[in-house]
Amino acid sequence: MKGLILSGGKGTRLRPLTHTRAKQLLPVANRPILFYGIETLVDAGIKDIGIVIGDTGDEIRAAVGDGKAWGIKLTYIEQNSPLGLAHAVKIAKDFIGREPFVMYLGDNLIWGGLRQFIQEFQKTQANSLILLSPVEEPQNFGVAQLEKGKIVRLIEKPKDPPSNLALVGVYIFDQNIFEAVNRIIPSWRNELEITDAIQWLVANGYNVKPYSITNWWKDTGKAEDILEANRMILDEIKTDIAAGIQNHNSQLVGRVVVEEGVELTNSIIRGPAIIGAGSIIVNSCVGPYTSISRGVTIVNTEIEFSIIMEDCRIIDFPSRIRNSLVGGNTTLCRSTSRCKDINLILGDNSQLFI
Ligand code: TTP
Repeated sequence: MKGLILSGGKGTRLRPLTHTRAKQLLPVANRPILFYGIETLVDAGIKDIGIVIGDTGDEIRAAVGDGKAWGIKLTYIEQNSPLGLAHAVKIAKDFIGREPFVMYLGDNLIWGGLRQFIQEFQKTQANSLILLSPVEEPQNFGVAQLEKGKIVRLIEKPKDPPSNLALVGVYIFDQNIFEAVNRIIPSWRNELEITDAIQWLVANGYNVKPYSITNWWKDTGKAEDILEANRMILDEIKTDIAAGIQNHNSQLVGRVVVEEGVELTNSIIRGPAIIGAGSIIVNSCVGPYTSISRGVTIVNTEIEFSIIMEDCRIIDFPSRIRNSLVGGNTTLCRSTSRCKDINLILGDNSQLFI
């Protein structure tokens, strides 16, 4: 069985962060989201993985490399334009050949692995197995309607949901999916939709089976999802303090990871939290549920439930920073002006609440 990870797309819902980086490389507990997806497939025994890339392809290649780090064979598949999930399948035909494959959305995180899901596909000899999970508000998801253990219909954000089973963003297909993606037409948003392709399989008598899980999963399409994913992953970390860090009168409370070269002075780090390599924290409180990337400087500031990306400088910030996602190389400082003004340099689509 091969793996196909989709890492192209537009990432519009994550602007401005996605103006400058691929959304699949946004860090959760200081690691790119995409790495968790690769590891989920590798842990399930998949060693031959294709990654669909788009405009941000160079960045993804640079971060992921040739797959040796995971002991796998990696093939990059270029999608010229983000024309939909089913289009990504279409262009992966040469890579997939005639083998069944797991398709995995590169911005998704799933708990508990995919081994049983794959075993179930091999047992049932279905043409396709679709991962589903019960959700509280099915009207916000793609939802499956089931009859006699098979999927009979998929509906995107139904007003009147036929079930509470949402599509998780992980699928197994056999080679019949290639006929399906060739037969469908683009939707109103001009994308070839994977739900239409699956619906085509159902309508043409192919065996499309559901596989329900109750494990936690997250589509990290929006900022609040990334923060939630960060909390979930940090909840699993174990204390790990690199040798040789400098700790001057600082307290580490609970489960904390501190990477090499960190300097802590008169500060409290409340776990779960992770402090990236070379960061400097002075007279500050960081955590809980906070990931500080490498090379960050924090002085006289309180931060919790947040992700601060690499090389940020946060100095004398007058309010506690909470539930925040701060892109790389950002400066947040108290204004030195005597007037009660604030000075802003914000990219397109930024958000500021003070
Ligand atoms: P989406 O989150 O559905 O789409 P998007 O990345 O364009 O984001 P937004 O809606 O915020 O603009 O995509 C799910 C995953 O599939 C994600 O990792 C990107 C990837 N993808 C492709 O590889 N090719 C595509 O044509 C599309 C639409 C998505």
